[in-house]
Amino acid sequence: MKRSTLILLKTLVWLACLSPAAWLVWGAVTNNLGPDPTATITFTTGLSTLRLLTISLAITPVRLLLPQLNWLIKFRRLLGLFAFFYASMHLMTWVALYTGFDLNAMSADIVKRRYITVGMAAWLLLLPLAATSTSWAIRKLGGKRWNRLHKLVYVAAVCGVVHYWWQVKTGVLTPMTITIVVGVLLLARPVLALAQRRRKRVPAAV
Ligand code: HEM
Repeated sequence: MKRSTLILLKTLVWLACLSPAAWLVWGAVTNNLGPDPTATITFTTGLSTLRLLTISLAITPVRLLLPQLNWLIKFRRLLGLFAFFYASMHLMTWVALYTGFDLNAMSADIVKRRYITVGMAAWLLLLPLAATSTSWAIRKLGGKRWNRLHKLVYVAAVCGVVHYWWQVKTGVLTPMTITIVVGVLLLARPVLALAQRRRKRVPAAV
């Protein structure tokens, strides 16, 4: 891929990733975040986290299916870091607007509400991944260990989906689409890796 195309694509990805935050800032400045601004911020940051995590999970299966899209790997770290950025904004919304920075209220919420417990687990799982996202950390850990650690992103995505289901009212099916997409991506990776290994084992016909 040409350098200019890569720069253009990177700019577009940055703009797309920043758009939910920009939309929230614009809504706050113009006093236009709806009747319940806290709910709007929580919903936007939570959904952006889950969407970005899902897109970053899709990169490996897409590359295995379509090797001509191998360059997508250049965007995985950026998407993962933006997912962590929105997860942290989402967490801070809870810390500031739901609990009012009250440590007792926070610990009570984490213990009492299972959707908060699993949401917290998801954020804690993303933390070491964001911390080891630098080229220096990859070198220090070594490729194999780094890859093993970064498999935690699958557990984080599952926790995120469970967190979503555990807070919607009974009968509400809004989290269904993202659940199906995450489920397919979780299955796709081992299935495609197996198919690729088999293909490599079969000697090419002369
Ligand atoms: C990877 C981590 C996380 C993801 C993907 C995620 C995702 C979501 C999503 C999609 C919603 C739905 C909003 C709606 O339908 O209104 C939500 C709501 C919420 N999340 Fe998270 N979340 C995560 C972590 C956390 C953490 C760490 C906390 C706090 C400790 C948290 C607290 C909340 C709260 C308080 C709500 C609003 C519940 C309500 O409407 O009463 N989340 N989250």
